[in-house]
Amino acid sequence: MRLFARPRRDRDGEALVEHLVTAWTRACEGADLVRNVDTVTGPTVIPPKLVDITLGPPTVLIAELQPGMIPADVTALAPRIAPHLDVHSLRVEPIGHRHVRVTLLDADPLDTLVQLDPGTDLMLGRDDAGHALRLDPIDLPHTITQGVTRSGKSVWTYALLAQLAGRDDVSLSGCDPTGLLWRPFRGTHHADRLSAGLTDLDAHEKVLRAVVDEMDDRIRDLPDDRDQIEIGPARLLIVVVLEEYPGLLRVLDAGKTRGDDPGQRVRALVSRLLAEGAKAGVRVVILAQRAEASVVGAFERAMCSLRISFRTDNRASVELLHPGTDPAIADAHTTAAPGVALITRPGHTLTRFRAPFLGGYPEYAAAVRRATS
Ligand SMILES: Nc1ncnc2c1ncn2[C@@H]1O[C@H](COP(=O)(O)OP(=O)(O)OP(=O)(O)O)[C@@H](O)[C@H]1O
Ligand SMILES: [Mg+2]
Repeated sequence: MRLFARPRRDRDGEALVEHLVTAWTRACEGADLVRNVDTVTGPTVIPPKLVDITLGPPTVLIAELQPGMIPADVTALAPRIAPHLDVHSLRVEPIGHRHVRVTLLDADPLDTLVQLDPGTDLMLGRDDAGHALRLDPIDLPHTITQGVTRSGKSVWTYALLAQLAGRDDVSLSGCDPTGLLWRPFRGTHHADRLSAGLTDLDAHEKVLRAVVDEMDDRIRDLPDDRDQIEIGPARLLIVVVLEEYPGLLRVLDAGKTRGDDPGQRVRALVSRLLAEGAKAGVRVVILAQRAEASVVGAFERAMCSLRISFRTDNRASVELLHPGTDPAIADAHTTAAPGVALITRPGHTLTRFRAPFLGGYPEYAAAVRRATS
């Protein structure tokens, strides 16, 4: 193994480099991050070659991938390699197609509060390299967010809504059986299409029907040479948030009678928004403790290309929204701190991030009032 050790490294440094190279090799062998080759002396395994080491903190390794490997392979196996390098975790960043920069992290970089850093676009959170995850609201796809109780779903939603509330190209809509989400929106121009609480169950269906009706009008008015409407002051982007969606369905299903099935009607309305909303400027954000099949069917899940999982109670829940996740990453996520989530979004690999924290409910209410006054 060729190693470009830096000049004037002292003896302790040299010993540390040697230790790192040995530990890296063993860890990669154990994690099966190796190329298998048959040689005259028998089969042998070759890990990614370390071509540079910067002793930290933080210590940074540059590794050249073996043929057949991609940077995502290293990312997936990082949780298996990190403990054998005596560190908490690894940050893996591609350098071109054939090298990765592996930063050895002594502590979880997400173990810190993330401030909301408002801009012209939406900030969803910050990844473990400190980069803000941002997107233009127009590019917000249908979204599903899951996580066990107290994992940070509502707090993430508060940050999202605080950013959307004051925009002149966005209209908010949706159903909130908890009654908390929409309270700061009373008296604002969004209020018409917001339903809250469980005393007036019909209100939730009415709100969704109003959005579906507007969607139908928009699709009917589409010019012949267009396949989606243009968002602007005349046609606002409608973001429909379904807080505790399974809870809402449970209550509606409990009211089912022989001739009346409100839960089914609400499911049908939401399915239509998911199927046809994208071209009509409608986006749905579903929040659930677990995106299980009885609540969010395979069709609904497939329509949501932005998928976020806060802490889940088992590996299978992660698999539900992020198929193909390495089991070590999924297992580690069952102990994630509040606000720490995995996100799958178009054009990106699975990313771990922390949601912005406004401070609490009073700060959320104040932010919405400020944005809408
Ligand atoms: N991004 C975050 N940063 C720091 N702390 C957070 C963050 N998100 C959540 N928390 C902490 O976790 C608590 C629970 O979060 P939240 O109310 O969002 O959970 P939830 O997933 O909506 O739970 P439930 O399903 O019970 O409604 C918050 O009150 C806060 O103390
Ligand atoms: Mg909540």
